[in-house]
Parts: sequence; structure tokens; C-alpha cells
Amino acid sequence: MRNPFKFGTIVEDEFFTDRTQELQYVMRVMDSENHLILISPRRFGKSSLVIKTAKQADRPYLFLNLQRVISTQDFAAKLLKEVFRLYTWEKVKHLMTHFHFVPTISTNPITNGIDVSFQPTSDSNVLIEDAMALLEKVSTPDKRLIVIFDEFQEILQIAKGLDKQLRAIMQVQKGLNYILLGSQESMMTEIFERKKSPFYHFGTLMRLNKIPYQDFYDYINERLSPVLPECSKTVSDEILTLTNCHPYYTQQLASQVWELAKYEGISENVVNIAVTRLTSIHDLDFERLWIKFNRMDRQILRTLSQDKNPLQNRQSATSTSFSAIKRLMKMGYVIRDKKYEIEDPFFKYWIIDKQL
Ligand SMILES: Nc1ncnc2c1ncn2[C@@H]1O[C@H](COP(=O)(O)OP(=O)(O)OP(=O)(O)O)[C@@H](O)[C@H]1O
Ligand SMILES: [Mg+2]
Repeated sequence: MRNPFKFGTIVEDEFFTDRTQELQYVMRVMDSENHLILISPRRFGKSSLVIKTAKQADRPYLFLNLQRVISTQDFAAKLLKEVFRLYTWEKVKHLMTHFHFVPTISTNPITNGIDVSFQPTSDSNVLIEDAMALLEKVSTPDKRLIVIFDEFQEILQIAKGLDKQLRAIMQVQKGLNYILLGSQESMMTEIFERKKSPFYHFGTLMRLNKIPYQDFYDYINERLSPVLPECSKTVSDEILTLTNCHPYYTQQLASQVWELAKYEGISENVVNIAVTRLTSIHDLDFERLWIKFNRMDRQILRTLSQDKNPLQNRQSATSTSFSAIKRLMKMGYVIRDKKYEIEDPFFKYWIIDKQL
């Protein structure tokens, strides 16, 4: 029997739970000429959700993480590379006659993939135009292309004015859908909600929350009961209380618990043992991290580790603590679901354990 929990990469099939309403919602947007903007903190399940939708709709999808793009030219090259991965050369070559600069396309024997490059002198704005226009051309009415840009907020870092240029192209395109994902709440809101931003109200904005307790509970309990027949219910509840239903950390902890039960026959105190193991692996990283935080950050993290609101009932709840929280959120250490919380429950446990 294989470990029934999976974490870290995109989850599908038996590893994917809940999200029925979200799935329906994304599906509806994809069934229109509109685009979707999906925001959540890291590892909440954005990629898994949109890929499941694309597969369920039986439509081709192209995925590009803007965090891995270093320049406008690189953007165009990576986009083309994805197009070549998705469609045959036979189909694409006729659609490239409009290209101003002919890219060099070669097969990479190591990755078995295709590499795309341009002459260094090529005008990168034109490259983007050509590559983006190709997306519309390869898309067909019965198999409309879904273009997913992950970590979209990075658009602002790649090159000045790229957001404006992309928006100008994307707004006139037809017959395909864009899904723009992002994990930096404040920057994503800035891009799509600020009136002066080129992407102001570009599409339907959707926020992805954690997986609801009851559904996650059933999912874990069903998978743990074969290895923990006596106590899977209590253990499932303990896991979710600890991870606060965070999709990634819940799967990680459940996976560790399953291994302890299955291979070491541990059932008593199994959640605590699993947490201790997972925390000890990161002990050094947490230590390094903690040292880097300033006093205000530490105070906030300590308060949050005690499940208290650092902005409430405190004389010092000033603009400095507020901006510290915002900074910690931007860096991803603090998230806000219903309330502010430490993103990583193991880091939280570590802070409690070390009595910092
Ligand atoms: N619907 C789901 N059911 C069960 N587990 C899930 C689900 N969605 C996400 N997870 C868990 O969360 C992890 C992260 O999912 P995913 O990579 O889709 O999130 P993401 O928001 O795209 O993350 P990132 O910010 O790293 O791009 C998965 O590996 C899985 O363990
Ligand atoms: Mg993702």
C-alpha cells in the first residue's frame, strides 16, 4: 500500500479533495470569454485547482511561472516553448508566418524537450507581440486554449512597461481564456484593483481559501483508518487542529503520521511524534530564520504562536506593528485566513517549543 497523502506538487485524482464549488466556478468562467484572477497564499492549491478544471473541461492548457522568467525575451521564448510542447510542429509552423524574428528551435537531447532562442539583437517588444499572437492562433473554437500565468505579480519585476504591453495585447484577444495566479495578496490587489493599473478589472477575481474542516477530516480519516483502526478519528482531528486546515501542511503531517503508523507501528501520541520529527528536520532553518527577524517581528510571531491577535488589546498596537505584519505577510511568514496566523504550523510549533 502506497502512502495515500501527497504534498509539494500538484495534486490530482485520489489526492485531490473538496473544491467542488470552486471547480464549478472556475469552469463557468472558462466557459465564457472572460478571464480569471485567482489569489491565495502559497500552497493553498491554486495550481491543482486550475489544472483539474482544464483537464475536466478537456481543453489544452499552457502553464508559465513568471517567477522563472528573467526578461521580456525570456518570456517570449518560454511561451513559445510551451506552445511547442502542446501542439505539433506541423500545426504551429503555418501559424508563425507573421513572426518578425524567426526563433531558433532545437531539441534538447537531455530533457527531451524543445529549446527556443532568439538573436540577442531582436526587439523584445516585437517578440512578445509575435508570441502572444500565436496563442490566439493555435486556439480553436472547440478546444479553446487556457493560458495560465503563475505568480503573475512578478510581471512588474520582469521589465518596465511589460504589464501595459501585455494588457494591450490580451484585451483584444478572443477565443482563449487567461488564468492569472498569484500568492502575493497585496501586489495582486494592486495590479487588478487599482484604477490606474493597466490590468484594472481585467477579469473575475477569486480568492481561494483553505479546505473546509469536515471535508478534510473525512479525507484524512478514510486514509488513516486502515493503519490506525483504533484512533483514526481523534488523530485526524488532531492533525487538522495543528495545521488549521492548511492544504499543504495537512497533507504533509498526515503523510508523516501514516508512515509512523504503517512502518513503525506507532499509534500512541503519533501526531506529536510526527510534528517533532518534521520540526527537527527544519530546526536549523527555523533558527536561522528567527535570527534574521527584528524585535518587532519576533514579538508579532510570538503573539501569533499563542493564537492571539497582535493588533488587539495592546497599547503598542501602532502603525509600526501593522506595517510589520504587512511586511511579514508580504514575505509569506504570516497569512490571513479568517485571522492573522503563522503560515507554517511547524514553525509555530517550533516557536512554542523553544519558548521564544
Ligand atoms: N484540493 C486539494 N486536496 C488535497 N490537497 C490539496 C488540494 N489542493 C492542494 N492540496 C495540497 O497543497 C499542496 C499545494 O498545492 P498546489 O501546488 O496546487 O498549490 P499552489 O497554491 O499552486 O501552491 P504554490 O503557491 O506553491 O504555487 C499540494 O501538494 C497538496 O498537498
Ligand atoms: Mg502553484
